[in-house]
Amino acid sequence: MPKISQKGLAMPQSPIRKLVPFAESAKKKGATVIHLNIGQPDIRTPQIALDAVKNNNLKVLEYSRTEGSESYREKIAAYYHKNQIEVTANDIIVTTGGSEALSFAMGSIADTDDEVIIPEPFYANYNGFATASGIKVVPVVSKIENNFALPPIEDFEKLITPKTKAILICNPGNPTGYLYSEEEIKKLAKIVVEHDLFLIADEVYREFVYDDRQHYSILQEPSLANHGIIVDSVSKRYSMCGARIGFLVSKNQEVISTAIKFAQARLSPPTYAQIASEAALETPQSYFDEVKTEYVSRRNLLISELEKLDGVVVAKPQGAFYCIAELPIEDADDFAQWLLEDFRVDNETVMVAPAAGFYATEGLGKNQIRIAYVLDRPTLKRAVHILGEALKTYIG
Ligand SMILES: Cc1ncc(COP(=O)(O)O)c(C=O)c1O
Repeated sequence: MPKISQKGLAMPQSPIRKLVPFAESAKKKGATVIHLNIGQPDIRTPQIALDAVKNNNLKVLEYSRTEGSESYREKIAAYYHKNQIEVTANDIIVTTGGSEALSFAMGSIADTDDEVIIPEPFYANYNGFATASGIKVVPVVSKIENNFALPPIEDFEKLITPKTKAILICNPGNPTGYLYSEEEIKKLAKIVVEHDLFLIADEVYREFVYDDRQHYSILQEPSLANHGIIVDSVSKRYSMCGARIGFLVSKNQEVISTAIKFAQARLSPPTYAQIASEAALETPQSYFDEVKTEYVSRRNLLISELEKLDGVVVAKPQGAFYCIAELPIEDADDFAQWLLEDFRVDNETVMVAPAAGFYATEGLGKNQIRIAYVLDRPTLKRAVHILGEALKTYIG
């Protein structure tokens, strides 16, 4: 039998999806599974985006330009300008999701065995992209008791080696919901400039910030013009996860021209999805206001219900739509599987993402889960009730 690669063997499983077979089996047996595990919003895609695909009269579904169509990139630059981020169409590459932007960013700045420092817990697929690129993830621990704020900058400093190429942050954070302040971004800017590193910021949840907080982008920081790379996406912004459109943005033209070579190898981003995403830019502010109000009320309900459960500690999210909850158990992997296999309330159960897969440090996050609050309030309330009953039975 021919052998598959070491890299393939090392590819991590997604903690968000690995329990899917157990959920499918529960559903086959007639149970209802409430999905708290995955960030698939139930919010409607703006009609204007769907109509743009329905009503267009393309005769040939052609490749688009490698870096995305000119008109779309011009409009994206205008979107950034509205968000106090000054970039031009030439600073933007349209990618197949933020996912592809992440892999282009890593491919463009790091060689095999180079290192990228990432505050943990982090979006689990960073591990996958790093492994695929042969890059080593060097974690720096952020803590639930500090609401997952930026770890002390000395903790980053200690980890910098000649192989360090970048610091990667997610702002606001998946899975933590933490929003880095302007001061925290400035501290990161200082350290990356001092050590001549890149700062990659995954800002796919930029619009989802709560309680009158403001998002501060890395490219609002003038010192980061040559150091900053933004990873962005339409997936969550317009509830268009299936469109598969994202962007890589940098004012560093060497980064852009290098990333374009990776982009040329995959020819172009999807044409229909660019048409939909370009139209989505016309989405009225009222859509975002309504969506934000909905997420805030879901967050408030989720956190207050979780806080009522004995022994549960939860960090209050300031953005995105996830939270990490610490449970009075030892092994959240086992608990999550048991929920799907053995526990029901009125024939319903919940699926959660065990948080260990969001950490790179072995042993961390074992008693934590990530919850996505992408479901309506009555469902969230039922889900937390089921979790509470489950904990009583599980702990015994
Ligand atoms: C933090 C973060 N970055 C990137 C992505 C990838 O997004 P996309 O659907 O644009 O590939 C996700 C998706 O959930 C995410 O949560």
